[in-house]
Amino acid sequence: MATAALHLRNGGTSVILDLASVALPAIVHWGADLGDLDEAEVGSLCRAAVPQRVSGGLDSPAPLTVIAQEASGWLGTPGLIGHRRGRDFSTNLQTTGVDATATSVTIDAADVDGGLVARIELEITASGLLRQRITIRNTATDDYELVALAPTFPLPVGAVELLDTTGRHLRERAPQRHAFTIGTHLRESRRGRPGADATLILAAGTRGFGFERGIVHAVHTAWSGSNRLAAERTPTADAFLTAGELLAPGEIILSPGDDYSTPWAIGAWGDGLNELSARFHAELRARPQHPRRVRPVTLNTWEAVYFDHDLDHLTALAERAAEVGVERYVLDDGWFRGRRDDAAGLGDWYVDEHVWPDGLNPLIDRVRRLGMEFGLWVEPEMVNPDSDLAREHPDWLLRARAELPMSARQQQVLDLSHPDAWAYVLERLDALLTEHDIAYLKWDHNRDLLEAGDARTRLPRVHENVLALYRLLDELKRRHPHLEIESCASGGARVDLGILDRTDRIWTSDTLDPIERLQIQRYTGVVVPPELMGAHLTSPLVHSTGRTVSLSLSGGVAIAGHFGIEWDLTTLDADGLTAVADWVALHKRHRGMLHSGRVIHADTDPTRDVRGVVAADGSAALFTYAQVQTSPTYPPGRFTIPGLDPDRRYIVNIVAGEPADGPGQTSLPWIDWPPTLTGRQLAAAGIQAPVLHPEQLVLLELTAA
Ligand code: DGJ
Repeated sequence: MATAALHLRNGGTSVILDLASVALPAIVHWGADLGDLDEAEVGSLCRAAVPQRVSGGLDSPAPLTVIAQEASGWLGTPGLIGHRRGRDFSTNLQTTGVDATATSVTIDAADVDGGLVARIELEITASGLLRQRITIRNTATDDYELVALAPTFPLPVGAVELLDTTGRHLRERAPQRHAFTIGTHLRESRRGRPGADATLILAAGTRGFGFERGIVHAVHTAWSGSNRLAAERTPTADAFLTAGELLAPGEIILSPGDDYSTPWAIGAWGDGLNELSARFHAELRARPQHPRRVRPVTLNTWEAVYFDHDLDHLTALAERAAEVGVERYVLDDGWFRGRRDDAAGLGDWYVDEHVWPDGLNPLIDRVRRLGMEFGLWVEPEMVNPDSDLAREHPDWLLRARAELPMSARQQQVLDLSHPDAWAYVLERLDALLTEHDIAYLKWDHNRDLLEAGDARTRLPRVHENVLALYRLLDELKRRHPHLEIESCASGGARVDLGILDRTDRIWTSDTLDPIERLQIQRYTGVVVPPELMGAHLTSPLVHSTGRTVSLSLSGGVAIAGHFGIEWDLTTLDADGLTAVADWVALHKRHRGMLHSGRVIHADTDPTRDVRGVVAADGSAALFTYAQVQTSPTYPPGRFTIPGLDPDRRYIVNIVAGEPADGPGQTSLPWIDWPPTLTGRQLAAAGIQAPVLHPEQLVLLELTAA
């Protein structure tokens, strides 16, 4: 091997790899760009990281390598676990080749006795993300059962606090923090999809790190099935993150010559979560498939009519939608054969002849004539036992034994890895898209997978189903190049960068409650940029929480996202429609900036919320100031606006919402509007916040003076 160490740099990130230490390379540094280093400096950094030998320890202390192995003395969780009926339980992969560029390296390794070869791909992207993927191949003459495989992301010494999210249906992405003590903090999804409780990132940072500041590193698994994220601190002072797929027993058995690749594990770091998140956003926006045309304002019919499909009502809704400026009209669940409620019909993807005697085209034609695109809801991986499909093809349903798994939402899961089932779904979706003018599919997935096995072999099938889903999405997009697809799973239960490689937005949550949405969107948005996050206006009485909310709160919380409406507009009078149309117009006026700018969250006390988007060139910004609960002080005091160009002067104008009157008093004076301050002044000194009732907000437009 020619070089003993490597320095990869890109997008403000450096990675230093020690190639000489033991069998596989060790990552000595992942984080801040260390500048242009010569070979000697890189070598010194590697030597400075070699641990001291200690009493009671190994004669040659183990560094943490790209795949952690017991054969190198590693006593924490191994990076690769597998065996051949118990044999070859400990791998000894040794580097056989290194192929590096300035920003990436491919490391080949072999365990000659153990009959395995591995390829580790490691790359720093233009936005400074660190991506890793490992492929292993069985070179022996008998089967190798893979139990776990995940790459290592070592953490700096200052990482002492962990952040991830948990949640449930209607309340995804609730943050939780822990001290990063010795041991393993494990977040697993065994649900065959990431799940409503999934964390998009597992982050480790300095004490009290926030959105504005504090060095923080995080990982994400770009995979739509079961997955495992871990943060581990060892008694030997190592700390690291891993991100991989969670495999069921027997799920991956490599026959001689077979290989397995992990999903891409993606690491991001930043001084504050805003910077970390900006790396994800920049990366996604640079993809060739990133949606580039303006995000059409969307009306989704679900909360307007639920299963009550009636052509006249849905036509009237389309007319109102067009009037207020909607550009895409989506017909939700309830249009297909036998689907009068959630108990039957899933799998029978034919238009219901009783509810739609003339088919969907009368509605679609009206929607198109009104100048809107038409979208349709589907849930292709799901089957109601009460469906022709389930009756005719019981062997197409995932199961671990003769009996079906426990039911959820009265549905079971189709085995998409069954070639006939896959072909059926492709044929049905392709026919619907060919026979109708459909621009968009809302692709739902409303249950966790349980005991997801092949009905014939009883082998676990989650991995193969994820790959089959990806093939299906890719094939539909190939046949219908202009089709856009939304990934919905009872809201945000399938949000990951694997699905987002092939879809155009996610349905962030089934709750439309803007107060709930503040947190859900904040933590989903760490990875997902606003233009890919569905965010809709709610009816004033929120269906999921029973809370009554103002239009300005609903509008202000939704404005930055892929904007839409989830509300029966036929119930509104002329003034109501005008108010909705004003929000649609406001969104349209700013969406170019909102969907290309930098997302900023301020670190505030929990009674209020300050967030916004700053134009990519710093020339403008849109922020919301929300009073989430009553303020402990009266007036609430100043708030600061971070993330602006420090040297630019901004005029701050209120464009929606207004300060509240005191009881029995009107027009209490607030500050002199519009203030004109520099970005530095707004970030450091701030401005007085308006007195707002709880659950109210003001929308602030900042323009360069
Ligand atoms: C769950 C989705 O998240 C909702 O928006 C709606 O599409 C329903 N499924 C329909 O069954």
